[in-house]
Amino acid sequence: MSPLSDQISQLRTFFMNELRSTSSSKELEDLKVKYLGRKGLIQSLMVELKNAPVDQRPHLGKLINDLKEELISHWDHTLLRLKEEETLNAFAKERIDATLPGRRPFLGRSHPLAQMLEKIVDILIGMGFSVQLGPDVDSDYYNFEGLNFAPDHPARDMQDTFYLGGDLLLRTHTSNVQVHAMENFEPPLRIVAPGRAFRNEDISSRSHVFFHQIEGFYIDKDVSFADLFATMDEFLSKLLGEKVQTRFRPSYFPFVEPGVEVDVRCTACKGEGCRICKRTGWLEVLGAGMIHPKVLQKGKIDPEVYSGYAWGMGIERLAMLQMGVSDIRSFTQNDLRFLSQFP
Ligand code: DAH
Repeated sequence: MSPLSDQISQLRTFFMNELRSTSSSKELEDLKVKYLGRKGLIQSLMVELKNAPVDQRPHLGKLINDLKEELISHWDHTLLRLKEEETLNAFAKERIDATLPGRRPFLGRSHPLAQMLEKIVDILIGMGFSVQLGPDVDSDYYNFEGLNFAPDHPARDMQDTFYLGGDLLLRTHTSNVQVHAMENFEPPLRIVAPGRAFRNEDISSRSHVFFHQIEGFYIDKDVSFADLFATMDEFLSKLLGEKVQTRFRPSYFPFVEPGVEVDVRCTACKGEGCRICKRTGWLEVLGAGMIHPKVLQKGKIDPEVYSGYAWGMGIERLAMLQMGVSDIRSFTQNDLRFLSQFP
């Protein structure tokens, strides 16, 4: 064997050893330069060829060319293998890290006002009332006239009421349900009516053009003012806690006689006087009274036989108080940062 053919087979051995210990495509690239590059070891064998005896050159030249083909083929295979390994390793790094804290899926929940309404309605159902819903769009008769509002009563003023044309308006309170119920059912009636009401007022942190109310009424034989007091006391203590203190003040509403406003001891300051209760120690929570005989009459219920009480309360102010909300507009802005605070 000529020294050159020795060198050729040695080069194969060296290359194969180096190839086996290559562990990255970067190293593999270097190996290619070293052996197969323009100034690489294969090329230097070619240079050596010039010194070989003339008659052996074709044979040795073929050996070198064959070796070159062989190295390239091994090199290509190794490149594929390494690339595959590298991709797999990259995947492995991305695999699930079981120690990471989980991501909570977003859970929908009911609106804070819906929660408040539901709580109130649940209590009243437990006290024997049943739920009736009335229309948001109603006629003047159901919203005003059937409730004994004189034709020139200031509440009918264009300032407060959204008139829709013709005889229709957006109800200004849920009391319209009283008139519908008296028209549709015979006493005894024991009904609560939650829903929306609308008034043309300036929007501010304390008032809005639409809001929620709940109306309640009881019509039967021998219903007395004492029944109203007892029912309000029980209802408010179930809603605000056993120890809540109530106060009844005379007031005027066209559809009741006598009429009262019901206050509770300020839940924020316990009656000491604070910003929320305007230093009075009391919070007005609802209007109530004995249903006016004229309202019963209009509802075709004989006031000589039947009597009844009614009350109405706003939901927003109570919810703001109980849930610590300072701006009524937050309820209608659909901001999830706000809404998701009420689990
Ligand atoms: N409808 C009245 C309002 O919107 C609230 C009210 C007061 C309802 C006295 C009643 C009641 O049933 O008896 O301000």
